Parts: sequence; C-alpha cells; structure tokens
Amino acid sequence: MTRRTGTTRFTGKVAVVTGAGSGIGRALALRLAGSGAALAISDVDAAGLAETADRCKAGGADVKADHLDVTDRDAVVSYAGDVLTRFGTVNQLYNNAGIAYYGEVERARLEDVEHIFKVNFWGAVYATTAFLPHLVASGDGHLVTVSSLFGLITFPGQSAYNASKFAVRGFTEALRQEMLAARHPVHVTCVHPGGIRTGITRRLAVADGLDADAIAGVFDRRLALHSPEMAAAVILDGVRRRRARVVVGAEAKALDWLARVTPSGSQRAGVLMARLLGLSPSPRSAL
Ligand SMILES: NC(=O)c1ccc[n+]([C@@H]2O[C@H](COP(=O)([O-])OP(=O)(O)OC[C@H]3O[C@@H](n4cnc5c(N)ncnc54)[C@H](O)[C@@H]3O)[C@@H](O)[C@H]2O)c1
Repeated sequence: MTRRTGTTRFTGKVAVVTGAGSGIGRALALRLAGSGAALAISDVDAAGLAETADRCKAGGADVKADHLDVTDRDAVVSYAGDVLTRFGTVNQLYNNAGIAYYGEVERARLEDVEHIFKVNFWGAVYATTAFLPHLVASGDGHLVTVSSLFGLITFPGQSAYNASKFAVRGFTEALRQEMLAARHPVHVTCVHPGGIRTGITRRLAVADGLDADAIAGVFDRRLALHSPEMAAAVILDGVRRRRARVVVGAEAKALDWLARVTPSGSQRAGVLMARLLGLSPSPRSAL
C-alpha cells in the first residue's frame, strides 16, 4: 500500500530529527524534506549524517546538520538553543536516536544496561525537556518518540532494550496527558516499529561470549520485514492524523494485540519464538 504524506502538517514547519544519519531517522528526514519542512538533523555518525544532509538539500530543503550525542545533556540543551536561533521556531521533534543490545540478565554487563538507558531513555528525555518550551511557544508543536514493538511486548535477551523502550513509552504517554491537561498546543505520538531493515544490527552490542553476527543475522533475515521508508511514511501519516500511538507493521500489530489479550500467553509465545529463531539459548561466539 502506498501512503501519501499530506504536506499541511509539514510545509514550512521546523522539524528536529535525532539519529538522522541512518535508517528510520534518515528516512524521516528525507520524507519531511520532501514535504516542505526545514530540518535540524543530528547524529554521532558524521559520515551518515552528511549523506542525509546532502540528500535533503538536493531536494531543496533548508537543513542544519550537527554532530550531537543525545547522552550529553549540556550539549543537547545548547543544541536546542542553536536550533531556535537558526530557525526562529521549532515545531516538531523526532526522538529517534537509539541503539540495540542483546544479552540475558544473567550475563549482561551492568555498564551495557546503563548505556542502553543513556541513549534510548535519557537521550529522549534530554531532547524532550530541551525542546518542549520551544514546541509550546511555536503554537503548533508535535513531539514524536520512537519506542519499539519491544516497548509493548517483552522478548528473551531484550531485558535492557525492553526496559528502555517501555520507559520511554511511559514518559511519552504521560507527557501527552500533561499537554492535554495543560491545553498546550503540542501533540505527542509514541511510535512502536516492528522489524525494520536499518543499520541497527551493524551497531548491535551483545553480552560477553555471545555471537553478535549470528544474532544480527537472525534479525536481518527473519525479523527485519519492512523498509525504513515504509516506517517513515507510516510515522508521518500518524503525525498528520495526530495519533497518540503508531504501531508499524502487521506483525507488530498482531503481537501488540496478543499481549493485550493474553499478557502471560504472549510471554510464553516470545520464549517459543526465540527458540524457533535459534536465539534461545543464545548463539555463543566461536571464540
Ligand atoms: N530497526 C528496527 O527494527 C527498529 C524497531 C523498533 C524500534 N527501532 C528504533 O528506531 C530508532 C532508529 O533506529 P534504526 O533502526 O533506524 O537504527 P540505525 O542504527 O539505522 O539508526 C540509529 C541512528 O542513531 C544514531 N545514534 C546512536 N547512538 C546515538 C547517540 N548517542 N546520539 C545520537 N545519535 C545516536 C546512530 O548513529 C544511527 O545513525 C531507534 O530508537 C530504534 O531503537 C528500530
């Protein structure tokens, strides 16, 4: 199905996209640029970000591209000020930067768990709090946070990632309620993608002794069903419709439904799925 991204929510708007150097963030940036938005894009990956910026500019978009590590709280605050100075207003924030991790609780290093939270949870919190006053002041704000299907259901080996994505979902949903209660002109959308073919598995971190290539290979071959372009189209359609929640992919919708109908049954289904995929017990490194 081809989805049309209506331009009225995007033309002439200033949109901020974190983690725009690859995958869903790049696809969002390109689609926003094609819909007439001005863009503030950032990433820790300089080469990936430069490519996104060049492609957006080639379509005629006004683009500010910056190195930004979303775990650096002071840098995020100062970046928000720079974006406001450059564009005069900020309408939309896409909290997209994120990383993946695989490792059972019994073997995960606490430093890795903390790092997942720094990027996936605190990164989104820092950007949200830095940009929220500007979104409110714009009179027409929209904040989007990319959680995950794993912010709706749990999966063996994903405790750290699950927890970070459930946390960012709770933060985002409560923020939406606060915007409604305060009658602030800021819509809030939490996004839950299923398996998307992006660079996330190239950057996959795993617990000691696990085989990152084998785990990434299972994800790429068996679970990454959708293109980032499809994800971006669905997300921006949700923004246009001011949806509170956007679930990307039929498999994600089915698993979300299962978890709501039978929470404990969906946990057992996850164990079975991990076994069928050869992920449980985890593939061990040959080293
Ligand atoms: N790919 C999927 O199947 C999938 C599914 C559900 C949710 N997600 C979420 O979608 C978002 C985008 O992921 P993707 O799949 O496009 O992955 P990706 O790796 O292709 O893109 C993520 C980008 O974030 C950047 N990044 C990582 N750490 C950063 C930091 N500290 N500061 C700034 N930028 C940083 C990376 O350099 C990369 O360019 C993530 O939040 C991810 O958790 C992805």
